[in-house]
Amino acid sequence: MRAVVLAAGKGTRMKSARPKVLHPLCGRAMLWYVVRALRDAGVAEVLVVTNAQVAEELPGIALDASLENVASVLQEPQLGTGHAVQIALAKLAPRDGTLLVLNGDLPLVEAELIKRTVEAARDAALALVTARMPLPSSLGRVVRDGQRVTRIVEARDATHDELDLDEMNAGLYAFDEAKLRRTIAELRNDNAQGEYYLTDTVARLAGSDRVVGVLADNFLSVLGVNDRSELASARALLNARICEHHMCAGVTIVDPSTTYLEPDLEIAPDVTILPGTTIAKRSRIGAHAEVGPYCRIVNSKVGEHAVVTESVVTDSTIGDFAYVGPWAHIRGGSELGTGVRIGDFVELKNAKLAAGVRAAHLSYIGDASVGERTNIGAGTITCNYDGVKKNATTIGKDVFIGSDTAIVAPVEIGDGAMTGAGSVVIRDVPAGTRVAGNPAKQLPDKNS
Ligand code: UD1
Ligand code: MG
Repeated sequence: MRAVVLAAGKGTRMKSARPKVLHPLCGRAMLWYVVRALRDAGVAEVLVVTNAQVAEELPGIALDASLENVASVLQEPQLGTGHAVQIALAKLAPRDGTLLVLNGDLPLVEAELIKRTVEAARDAALALVTARMPLPSSLGRVVRDGQRVTRIVEARDATHDELDLDEMNAGLYAFDEAKLRRTIAELRNDNAQGEYYLTDTVARLAGSDRVVGVLADNFLSVLGVNDRSELASARALLNARICEHHMCAGVTIVDPSTTYLEPDLEIAPDVTILPGTTIAKRSRIGAHAEVGPYCRIVNSKVGEHAVVTESVVTDSTIGDFAYVGPWAHIRGGSELGTGVRIGDFVELKNAKLAAGVRAAHLSYIGDASVGERTNIGAGTITCNYDGVKKNATTIGKDVFIGSDTAIVAPVEIGDGAMTGAGSVVIRDVPAGTRVAGNPAKQLPDKNS
């Protein structure tokens, strides 16, 4: 099965420098959802009609949506949806059978509906999806003669009576390709918008052939996004759909309306997500973990039974049974082992903390590795930047770092060592020794 996606339009009503179909909802471009739905429906080959900006971003979108066979064709200038299909057909080698065509501004479209439409086109020149919607609406109206679909009239060209029709054209079509090719060349632009309307093919096909309407169960599943307000509505619906999917799989989401999830997350059963929480990119949350309230977890892994509260975690891994927050910032490839405890106003950047490490208050630990069970006192800072480059800190296991220690990297603190409160460590500290002062000097052995 082949599909053409119409995604070249200016999106004038968005009033944006960014093409409409590239606007994100729930962390992915609008076009991503269309491409993903086609993939899920088993469509193997997709041609996207684009403008220059969309063409540039399409390969990344297709890759992220896991659809391999995607090509684009430029439509410049954009003279309407019918013109876009003319350009697509000129690019595609003719083939017998069904050709799917759909608008790129339908982020809520689902694979099931696409499959139903293809099925309905089997013995028809055209199957097109329609939806009953509350009025008023700016969408094209489906005009019927009894049960037969006879034409689509765009809202701006419609009469008063036609505007009262509440069955809309959704923008998803399955054409008999050969018949579409014969009709598409005949389109004219003598309408209110001076555009070539794809929707004018309906009347032409219906004159001599069977055109069937496929009524969508719920108009919200074919909500076309044309302005920022519809973008916000579509985002809320998508988010609710993603939350529902995880709740069905055993995740407790205390308040879906203030929980912001993205597609393709892995969230294990018995995870609890508290309000005000965003989980983004390729994040994974292990069983029995509790995330939130007010967390942002981006491209990170949270272990089983871990707790992350009121904190930001980016590109990092939180170990099983770890406790993070409130108000911690963990980023830059940090890795926290089992049972690590990170408290308020602690920032970790590219820090590897082994099992049982504690940094409970007011610290910056960057470009560092810390051994098992070491305690980092309040106010400890790794001075990792010498004005030119970032330097590494290595702290062994069972170390006690006193409050307000400044560790001037590169430096190594051995297993079981201790630093006194307010130490400025500028030289390596041998295992089992104690240092204090500025600059920190070794203290006599405790037992001497
Ligand atoms: C279109 C339909 C309307 C339907 C509605 C459903 C037409 C003429 N009208 O109206 O009947 O009810 O969708 O949401 O088709 N595009 C191009 N090139 C162009 C113009 C548009 O690729 O020259 C793309 C846009 O990027 C968009 C899609 O086609 O993804 C639909 O265009 P849009 O302007 O949103 O059409 P609507 O006014 O919503
Ligand atoms: Mg539209």
